[in-house]
Amino acid sequence: MSANTSGRTMLAAVVNGFGGPERVELAEVPVPRPAAGQVRIRVAAAGLNPVDGAVRAGVFGGDGQQLGLGWEVVGEIDGTGPGVTGWSRGDRVVGLHYGAVKPLGTHAEYVVLDATAVAAAPAAVDVLAAAALPLAGLTAARAVEQLGLAPGSSVLVTGAAGMVGGLAVQLAARAGLVVTALAGPGDEEFVRSLGAAAFVPRGGAPAGAVDGVLDAAVLGGPALALVRDGGVYVGLIPHHAPAAERGIRVEEQEVAPDGELLAELVALADAGALTLRVSEAFPLAEAAKAHERLATPGVRGRIVLTA
Ligand SMILES: NC(=O)c1ccc[n+]([C@@H]2O[C@H](COP(=O)([O-])OP(=O)(O)OC[C@H]3O[C@@H](n4cnc5c(N)ncnc54)[C@H](OP(=O)(O)O)[C@@H]3O)[C@@H](O)[C@H]2O)c1
Repeated sequence: MSANTSGRTMLAAVVNGFGGPERVELAEVPVPRPAAGQVRIRVAAAGLNPVDGAVRAGVFGGDGQQLGLGWEVVGEIDGTGPGVTGWSRGDRVVGLHYGAVKPLGTHAEYVVLDATAVAAAPAAVDVLAAAALPLAGLTAARAVEQLGLAPGSSVLVTGAAGMVGGLAVQLAARAGLVVTALAGPGDEEFVRSLGAAAFVPRGGAPAGAVDGVLDAAVLGGPALALVRDGGVYVGLIPHHAPAAERGIRVEEQEVAPDGELLAELVALADAGALTLRVSEAFPLAEAAKAHERLATPGVRGRIVLTA
């Protein structure tokens, strides 16, 4: 398709009713046009995240509307709206398309994003791995920041073999925190390779109370119970954090688009400091099949859709 796509159509993965993977449809829709301050990206690849399954299932509402799927993207800018400086056609970028209830997402042939939500794509990371960076990377970085712990403090990362958890282990270790990783028994070697100083198998607990927990496995109360009095708990499901107790600061992370922070993460990925695992790639046309795979327990690494 050309840059002047007004009147042209594209394929996009959408839901027109909530339920399982079978509700994911491919719709033919007009190619979106970038408004002031926006860029249009020709999608190369886009991660399929747990939140997409939740949108599809109706967790965030939006009944009666056609909802677009997909929160993250890597691709090439093919058009810019008025007032955009710094980006031009042909630039390879990654970006976050925040929002659960939206008409179109990144699981499409084109997506329009605010120019402030994108960063130059990594040069040293392949396109599928790059597609897995924006959502998990920004969430992990913001959650580690939210811990507010000084170097040398102890932190427990639950779900440490997952995408957010794994990147959080790497970023927390890099920030000088002493990381204990909680994950499945088969994940010990992997999470230690990310920089975890100690490992706790699922259902277990660290030897002593920790200064903070970053709860990427969404364990809630049982994870909060592992924090020392006056420590910190960071949860990843907004409005679902356990009640504060024992002077513990309870925080909820909600990711936000941030091109500058994303650029820092891209630099780390290019330097080999972030591990972006890809489990499997599906063409956009097989989005429903990819959702089925997402619902299968034990997936390691991001499932990616290619446009
Ligand atoms: N607030 C936000 O802005 C935001 C942004 C991004 C993600 N999130 C949320 O953060 C969570 C993690 O996302 P993700 O992308 O990292 O998902 P992911 O890649 O699927 O990883 C989740 C990890 O948690 C593990 N896990 C699940 N239950 C566990 C338990 N009881 N004990 C130990 N480990 C357990 C899973 O292991 P198994 O595969 O073995 O079950 C998996 O390794 C999701 O709930 C997601 O919706 C929130």
